[in-house]
Amino acid sequence: MSKIASLEINGEKYEFPVIEGTENETAINIKTLRGATKGVITIDPGFKNTGSCQSAITYLDGEQGILRYRGYSIEDLAEKASFLETSYLLIFGELPSKKELETFETDIKSKYPTPDGLVKILEGFPKESHPMGILGSLTCALNAFFPECNQTNTENEVYNAITTALGQFPTLVSLALRKTQNLTQLTSDPKLGYVENIAQLLFKKEGEAYEQNQIINDALDKLLILHADHEQNCSASTVRIIGSSHASLFASLTGGINALWGPLHGGANQAVIEMLENIVNDGGDSKKYMEKAKDKQDSFRLMGFGHRVYKNFDPRARIVKKTADEVLNDLGVKDPTLDIAKALEKEALEDPYFVDRKLYPNVDFYSGIIYRAMGIPTDMFTVLFALGRLPGWIAQWKEMRTNKEPIGRPRQIYTGEKHREFVSSTVNS
Ligand code: ACO
Repeated sequence: MSKIASLEINGEKYEFPVIEGTENETAINIKTLRGATKGVITIDPGFKNTGSCQSAITYLDGEQGILRYRGYSIEDLAEKASFLETSYLLIFGELPSKKELETFETDIKSKYPTPDGLVKILEGFPKESHPMGILGSLTCALNAFFPECNQTNTENEVYNAITTALGQFPTLVSLALRKTQNLTQLTSDPKLGYVENIAQLLFKKEGEAYEQNQIINDALDKLLILHADHEQNCSASTVRIIGSSHASLFASLTGGINALWGPLHGGANQAVIEMLENIVNDGGDSKKYMEKAKDKQDSFRLMGFGHRVYKNFDPRARIVKKTADEVLNDLGVKDPTLDIAKALEKEALEDPYFVDRKLYPNVDFYSGIIYRAMGIPTDMFTVLFALGRLPGWIAQWKEMRTNKEPIGRPRQIYTGEKHREFVSSTVNS
């Protein structure tokens, strides 16, 4: 029997259908609220209680610490799948057959060549630019160089836009890195695997042949998978809302990149390593920083801790922590920031402030330590997050368009001045 929610406003009763997801999550469908009540709306800053859509892509249970893409656990995917397989799964809903994966990879690689004009745009950026700013700008510029991708009415057109985004993105990432590091630009190499090509674009040194390192490639593949989607977070919601106006895929992705940049979202991975470095340089006293994080008069937050949805361990953080240990060990890197991170985690998990507020390490707490061990500059960490999140954003955009969702347009409660007469200030003075 279908469930109903009742609401009483000023003595009038209204009923709304209750909908349930496949994992029994419950929502009151208030689609008719404003019309039925003649103007009443809901208000929910930060959308803490608001579902913006019904989605079949990613399931996450923040209380239990569960994350699944299309029903497959993040633990299984991180262990057994490749990033490209995971991307296909997120975007098209099923794991690809061998043949489907080969075709997908070939189609993506056919979109590798970077337009000369993009590199010319890059030349105008100062060397000190933040690479996220470069990535966002170049992604938006793709609209100009691939105008055919702005048409996404047929399945073929959608597929073309998707493979172009996945084909161009590794080069855009490396353009951002190599510009800010004063390195010669490289082009993507279709003879290499997708992640091997990314490794070469990131790590190849001037005048030297690049030797693939399996430890780095495996860790990179895993990190990209772990970041690939996370349901209706700030950047995914941004992508969906931009796309809901039927702006192009590249315009929507640009919005996602900019939303991710903030330190409360993807920018946290850069903020975490800067925080850990500060603590090391300040004598390594983790307890002092724990006290600062708890002090309400102090704006300092323990970066990489807490999450809007997880009120338990972020399952990705467990995998990243284990990977950080393995990678540093395999690469023979000793990093004092890893010791500080572990000390902070231990103290936080025993401290009533963090325990009561259910604040646990999130995916970004240990990821920067791995990127650092690989030799990636700190301001590139969020760019690497964006590279991983690309298939998730694409999947969210595609689902929103396929489901023919209406344009995103929230309401507000106006708190400004009531009507007042215009009097020219030049008359008064
Ligand atoms: N350090 C110290 N206190 C914290 C932290 C933290 N990292 N995170 C939350 N709190 C406290 C808040 O001060 C608040 O305390 P109060 O109830 O006494 O006022 C309480 O915990 C709840 O915090 P909110 O900010 O209301 O929680 P919200 O869900 O809005 O924010 C967020 C979640 C933004 C992730 C927050 O935990 C945070 O700022 N963390 C640090 C930044 C970070 O790591 N971001 C990455 C998130 S993962 C991702 O986007 C990929």
